[in-house]
Amino acid sequence: MTDSHDRSDIECLLTGDEIAARVDQLGRQISTDYADREMVVVGVLKGSWVFMADLVRRLTCRLTCDFVRVSSYGMGTETSGEPQLLLDVRETLAGKHVLLIDDILDTGVSIQWLLRHLQGKAPASVRLCVLLDKPSRRRVEVRADYIGFEIPDKFVVGYGLDAAERFRELPFVGYVKASG
Ligand code: IMP
Ligand code: MG
Repeated sequence: MTDSHDRSDIECLLTGDEIAARVDQLGRQISTDYADREMVVVGVLKGSWVFMADLVRRLTCRLTCDFVRVSSYGMGTETSGEPQLLLDVRETLAGKHVLLIDDILDTGVSIQWLLRHLQGKAPASVRLCVLLDKPSRRRVEVRADYIGFEIPDKFVVGYGLDAAERFRELPFVGYVKASG
């Protein structure tokens, strides 16, 4: 799908400035909500790292960062079956307030699995923050506590999101234009 595409084939959906303004708002809200709590911010690799890097720099609460990684997509664009845990958190989460960060809530299959996995570590609370939400694609009941933008059912790239590992570095979110 993407090997023949370059940056000029990506049509912008959300500009870098729009994303920055929204991340700023989310940062304020989360900082207020967790004002007197210490949190563990857990990013889902790889898609969340750009968003997480920008978001944590806007948080004023006490926090530590950790990461998980799951695999389910391979090189395609559709979720295939049960997610596999490739990397688990190193921190002890028992009794702690966990904020899980992901790039996009799509079918919800991998996030639902991850939320259950983290709940199994007996944290004080777990909330979910996603940059993007595609509610029309949902296959399981999952809702995010913090959402950057709701977007239509289109495959998007940039600002951490990839298509076959490409375009994560784009400073905006866009979709690959149909060829021809
Ligand atoms: P799920 O279908 O909600 O389990 O989505 C799992 C993962 O698929 C997300 O965290 C993303 O990494 C990836 N994904 C879903 N939709 C898109 C998209 O439009 N562009 C790039 N990656 C996506
Ligand atoms: Mg992801």
